[in-house]
Amino acid sequence: MAKKGARKRVAILISGRGSNMGALIKAAKLKNYPAQIVLVISNEPNAEGLKRARKAGVPTAIVDHRPHGKNREAFERALDTELARHKIELICLAGFMRLLTPWFVGRWNGSMLNIHPALLPAFKGLDTHARALAAGVKIHGATVHFVVPEMDSGPIIAQAALGVASNDTPVSLAARVIKLEHRIYALALKLVVQGRVRIVGGRCMIGKSAPVKSALVVPKDR
Ligand code: GRF
Repeated sequence: MAKKGARKRVAILISGRGSNMGALIKAAKLKNYPAQIVLVISNEPNAEGLKRARKAGVPTAIVDHRPHGKNREAFERALDTELARHKIELICLAGFMRLLTPWFVGRWNGSMLNIHPALLPAFKGLDTHARALAAGVKIHGATVHFVVPEMDSGPIIAQAALGVASNDTPVSLAARVIKLEHRIYALALKLVVQGRVRIVGGRCMIGKSAPVKSALVVPKDR
């Protein structure tokens, strides 16, 4: 059991470059941030994010999914052992490219967050920027949500939006969306660990959040 008032012990699960992981590590180093990043786990032994985490002084672990073949639960039990060893209280998925079973998701119900590069419930799954452009949406963005067994579907904690430009490409859009991701992931984690997020009927209720008055209109109307 963690001590009362102690900063929550968070693990970040990655598979790739780990820029969201980097943003969370940076935020957690700020004075008064209520969570500490105590472990980064990658299922990919060569993930770039592992180097980044080590450089930032965060312990890392590799839990490769390959030796477990199609046995996803065996892989997840290995993950869980690592998480228990470090007394992890909360998980942040950050570009973690494995689907999780209902068993694992159930174990971490209400304590596992994910970041998705689109305004959910639009564009679940992969290639969100290309699909947003193909659909011709004028507003796009990012979402942080709790993880539930259905992919990219859990209660939404925070979202950030931006306007799509007529000459945007998936690459240019990704470059702007990722900056929003870095902002809202640290914010969402903070709100959750501060106990300000309640899940009611599958939706997040966030105490004392004032309405945001500024509107994003695309194309510009003035
Ligand atoms: C991000 O766009 C995230 O939303 C998605 O995967 C990407 C990971 O990027 N789930 P990074 O590894 O955090 O840089």
